[in-house]
Amino acid sequence: MTSRAGGFWTERKVAWYRRALSRSDFARTVLEVIRPLLDECESVLDVGAGCGALTIPLAERLRRVTALEPSSAMAKALAEEARARGLRNITIVEGAWGDVALPRHDLVLCAHVGELLRPDSPFLREVSAVCRRGVALVRDAGGSDDKFFFKELYPILLGRPYGGPCEHEETVEGLARLGVQPTVSLIDYRSDQPFDDLEEACDFWMEYMALRDEGVREFLRNFLAERLVADGPGLLAPYPKRAAVIWWRSSPQPGERVG
Ligand SMILES: C[S@@+](CC[C@H](N)C(=O)[O-])C[C@H]1O[C@@H](n2cnc3c(N)ncnc32)[C@H](O)[C@@H]1O
Repeated sequence: MTSRAGGFWTERKVAWYRRALSRSDFARTVLEVIRPLLDECESVLDVGAGCGALTIPLAERLRRVTALEPSSAMAKALAEEARARGLRNITIVEGAWGDVALPRHDLVLCAHVGELLRPDSPFLREVSAVCRRGVALVRDAGGSDDKFFFKELYPILLGRPYGGPCEHEETVEGLARLGVQPTVSLIDYRSDQPFDDLEEACDFWMEYMALRDEGVREFLRNFLAERLVADGPGLLAPYPKRAAVIWWRSSPQPGERVG
């Protein structure tokens, strides 16, 4: 299966994503929840690893991490980060789920990859074939603030409501139909987006919403000037997030030694 992700992630979007991650408590919060499972694992497959939000801290802790990532801009950023930190235990596989055969890993992780976490996604059916000990999924949960004011801006600028991704209950229902009863832990963390100035913030919304018109930019300038908050010499789009960590231990495979 080929994903659409490759075209979506431009180098500039990836740079913004990395910048938000560098001040986020996302990884620490997720890894704390799955610590009992992580303590039993040496290898992890991070599906849709992005620029390494979880791959990097996991590689600092475990023996080896495989990062599956279809976007070359994301994969490049992850490789840069791994090099900068001297991490040699990360294998980056450039591809989407289903494109490449993957060996078993102790843990399979998949965070915020909407198309894989839909209740009818083949990924949910197939994931048990590549994991030995367990699976952890992270997906948006109700209770987050309006993502980057999209609920307000979509109707005004694009003439349609912001759909947003489906939420974690649907994934849990999809798993139940497969006979999987996971532990579901809700987490709160910050995903604030920093900018150097108002013009950079306008660039962000223009790019994310695929806007071109200069008149729209003028509208955004006024809109954002009222909503962004001061952050040292720059500006910040505050974004408190809530997500669900959905995780379970896998059943041992026939002939596999446990413990
Ligand atoms: C929102 S980012 C999340 C990245 C990272 N997991 C995190 O939590 O920060 C979603 C990532 O999933 C990747 N992706 C999208 N579709 C995919 C698929 N079918 N298989 C694997 N990765 C996919 C995208 O390229 C993107 O890097």
